[in-house]
Amino acid sequence: MVFFISSSCFSVLSFNKLLLKQDGQEEILVTSKDSVFSLLEKKWISSTYFDRGLNYESSLMEVVSLSDVLKIYSPYGNADAILLNCADDYQGIISINDVKKYDLQIALKIQLLQGAVRPDWLQPMLIVVPNHAKPPFFERFLTANITELRFISLAEYYAPLNSLGLENANAQLGLGVFKSNCLFCHSINKVGGNKGNSLLSSFDLTFKSEKKRFKARFLEKHGRDNNTKQNMGQFIDNNQFEALLEFLYKISVNK
Ligand code: HEC
Repeated sequence: MVFFISSSCFSVLSFNKLLLKQDGQEEILVTSKDSVFSLLEKKWISSTYFDRGLNYESSLMEVVSLSDVLKIYSPYGNADAILLNCADDYQGIISINDVKKYDLQIALKIQLLQGAVRPDWLQPMLIVVPNHAKPPFFERFLTANITELRFISLAEYYAPLNSLGLENANAQLGLGVFKSNCLFCHSINKVGGNKGNSLLSSFDLTFKSEKKRFKARFLEKHGRDNNTKQNMGQFIDNNQFEALLEFLYKISVNK
């Protein structure tokens, strides 16, 4: 039971909080159909972060504050992040710290300028960075097509990656770049989404020539603005790309 206070009235509502049992632990699951999204205050905002990431102008989004959602569904136990499962096998993840630090919003409606090309995947719900917040420029903060939110622990989620025992500092940096920009679609060790293919199956990075092919294919798929708007090249510079390759190389040789 949750107490919901609004300016004009005082009422008691119960949300259909779904608790999943996993390894004996309870987990909160909020779907896009949850009444929380129709009950919380909504407003229309613009986001220069979104417009920049997708190369649009003057888009508008109807949003609910994720901090407000957290007030209703307060995460408990060791939960410190929200896993964002999406309709297209994309799997986003944002920490609760980032939700608060950057006042992240979640959009229920997206309105693009007339004539703008809209890729299939650009559907609500969508993570939106409001104009007063200035997070680093990452794919992480542009998750779309979200169908469910789960409250989980970052340490548990990333455990199969953190246990790789990367000693090389550059490879560790590469792991960070991969987590913030790629893992959502290219899973590794069963962590992450599967919208894209498995990069370690497609490339054997223990060969030098494969590094080159990787880079060429990356530029082809993610390098410039195209109609799929999966323009990942914009998020990473050359050094970060090299670190990312070092990370993939290290896990390929350790396999
Ligand atoms: C929004 C989802 C998404 C994200 C995020 C993403 N990718 Fe991809 N990626 C794809 C899809 C989809 C393909 C195309 C797969 C195909 O051609 O069948 C692809 C293809 C690729 C390919 C070519 C694969 C091949 O077999 O030739 C490379 C390399 C690649 N991505 C690297 C990256 C890297 C590095 C990042 C992070 C900087 C990244 N991707 C982030 C979805 C994504």
